[in-house]
Amino acid sequence: MKAIVTGGAGFIGSHVAEVLIERGHQVLVIDDLSGGFRENVPLGAGFLHASVLSDLQAPFEQFRPDAVYHLAAYAAEGLSHHIPLFNYQNNLEGTANVLAAAYHAGAEHFVFTSSIAVYGHPHSAEPFRESDAPAPADPYGIAKFACENHLRAFRDYFGRPNFTIFRPHNVYGERQNISDPFRNVVGIFMNRALRGEPLPVFGDGAQTRSFSYIRAIAECITSAPLTEGARNEIFNIGGDVPTSVGELANTVSSVLGIPPNVQSLPERKEVKHAHACHKKLYRVFGAEAMDMGLREGLERMAAYVQSHPVPPATPCPSPVEILDGLPPSWRQSVIALRDAVAAPAPVLAHQPA
Ligand SMILES: NC(=O)c1ccc[n+]([C@@H]2O[C@H](COP(=O)([O-])OP(=O)(O)OC[C@H]3O[C@@H](n4cnc5c(N)ncnc54)[C@H](O)[C@@H]3O)[C@@H](O)[C@H]2O)c1
Repeated sequence: MKAIVTGGAGFIGSHVAEVLIERGHQVLVIDDLSGGFRENVPLGAGFLHASVLSDLQAPFEQFRPDAVYHLAAYAAEGLSHHIPLFNYQNNLEGTANVLAAAYHAGAEHFVFTSSIAVYGHPHSAEPFRESDAPAPADPYGIAKFACENHLRAFRDYFGRPNFTIFRPHNVYGERQNISDPFRNVVGIFMNRALRGEPLPVFGDGAQTRSFSYIRAIAECITSAPLTEGARNEIFNIGGDVPTSVGELANTVSSVLGIPPNVQSLPERKEVKHAHACHKKLYRVFGAEAMDMGLREGLERMAAYVQSHPVPPATPCPSPVEILDGLPPSWRQSVIALRDAVAAPAPVLAHQPA
């Protein structure tokens, strides 16, 4: 199979590209490196440094993928309230652009990573199920849900490509960007701990998530186009074991062999407990529970992090559009990162004669 992986220089995408190559497929990664790293692209994959918002017709038609795995996105859910225009452009328009290119190039299957953010606030104490009515509570989740609808409507109208939508949550592991201050709580904790800085916890740290180690997730996502029951279906994907953010902070510290040192920050507006049911995934993919013990998964990630240089802080790829309500720690990061990035040269509509 020939596969294009957008976002393949990022965390999950690089693992998907790696599994594809291990399984003997031909891979082209497309990534603008706004949140990923060239070194993440696995050996054997082709690489095109380009935005999913650019004209993709020529590279797609030249490569002629059988399947497209579209993972490129700026996945900062909390920050998306403050960068709504950028969020919709990058994550929703980008998806429409990749889908059109996939269609024109004859792709038969489109795999999309949505998010459990589409569910919004929990409707009950039960984990989210795919049959629950989505009610996303932030622009990130709204864009993901719009992409899901667009994929379905596109396929119904044009008859192709078939799609598989995954709704992952709280994935962590090797090659995750630990230098983005606005997302990836596990990465943020590891980065801070390595610098001897306190681990920032919003509110009382009792909010819970099911953290999910990457490998089994990447294997499942990779299998979608060749899995009969996965065609035109939606799957939650991730771990089943709830862990509080406070407990995560303690475990990260313990794995790195440092005393726990937590900085309590004012509570921010976020979903308190977010968990998903994975019975449908297990049934269709024949997969087993995706929880590797949290400690073991963190040890693997820590071994990677400790043997690789920590990248410089990743700036938000867009100016912040709405500063109101930005948590003070994020406001500081926005200002620090803005000041650190040299102002771009002005673009001239007409070159001077
Ligand atoms: N990590 C998680 O826990 C999680 C949870 C739910 C959903 N997801 C989704 O999974 C996908 C991958 O997430 P990840 O955690 O690997 O993030 P990531 O940031 O590591 O990877 C995303 C990649 O997309 C690239 N990218 C962003 N905008 C681009 C653009 N306009 N053009 C080209 N490339 C662009 C980035 O450079 C990066 O390499 C995303 O769609 C994300 O929304 C992730």
